[in-house]
Amino acid sequence: MKPGMSLIKHYLQFKDFRAEEYAYLLERAALIKRRFKNYEKYQPLVDRTLAMIFEKASTRTRVSFEAGMYQLGGTVLNLTTGDTQLGRAEPVEDSARVISRMVDIVMIRTFEQAKLEAFAAHSRVPVINGLTNEYHPCQILADVFTFIEHRGSIAGKVVAWVGDGNNMANTWAQAADILGFTLHVSTPDGYEIDPAVAGVADKGCLRVFNHPLDACADAHLVTTDVWTSMGYEAENEARMKAFVDWRVDADMMAAARPDALFMHCLPAHRGEEVEAEVIDGPQSVVWDEAENRMHVQKALMEYLLLGRIG
Ligand code: CP
Ligand code: NVA
Repeated sequence: MKPGMSLIKHYLQFKDFRAEEYAYLLERAALIKRRFKNYEKYQPLVDRTLAMIFEKASTRTRVSFEAGMYQLGGTVLNLTTGDTQLGRAEPVEDSARVISRMVDIVMIRTFEQAKLEAFAAHSRVPVINGLTNEYHPCQILADVFTFIEHRGSIAGKVVAWVGDGNNMANTWAQAADILGFTLHVSTPDGYEIDPAVAGVADKGCLRVFNHPLDACADAHLVTTDVWTSMGYEAENEARMKAFVDWRVDADMMAAARPDALFMHCLPAHRGEEVEAEVIDGPQSVVWDEAENRMHVQKALMEYLLLGRIG
């Protein structure tokens, strides 16, 4: 089949799914999580193979996809740039054609979104974004699921993003647009969310604040991320200076609603983007958030491979 003519469902950014698909997926993830917690075997993906391609480091994405696929009865291949021809400049289109003839689903963590899209356009099987420079949809899927577990529906709520206008921030913006909540954003000058990259249809879901304390006011959830994302290490020194007032601390949590949650996709740097008393404090749900990556991605793989169940 020619590229562009494929009817295969991919998950390349958050806006690839509609609100109604998220409602289904989030319910499905809750069911799959309950089964896992009750030690009930659930193996709808026997004989299916997931290829994971990592061009950047990972702990959570690697473990959650690998453990999740085995739990669903499937098998997993872990490929990295260093040990495949991807690292020796084989075209991504050729890699996609070959890999997707041998496996059933592919997860990719890479640099430019364009590379992921090129892979997907030449893939015979579903492709999942495991993080690009621009987006991290699996993480926001887990974050939304975690919010709902703790506080119920996220529609109509306020999420405060403090820090870099990065892949996480762009994806939160898409989620706000699709799921009907408001994203308060505060970034240092020069590190704003680029609405063209975030690609949100309705800018009304975004409110920008100069001061992070103002962004946190009345928030149901305060969230942040590292000041220097993978691939931006050369900017580290400048970023450490620029972001110094965007460290999430007790004052910011106090500006939010008393029952506000704190999230961070991890890995975290205590004393940089977040104070230890916040990430290790009672409002933090970061460990649930990390665990939930596995449950939501199991639901995602099931959906991409088998469609709706029941
Ligand atoms: N949050 C997240 O994606 O973590 P890893 O980089 O460890 O996969
Ligand atoms: N924004 C971070 C997220 C890591 C999970 C990065 O891209 O490095």
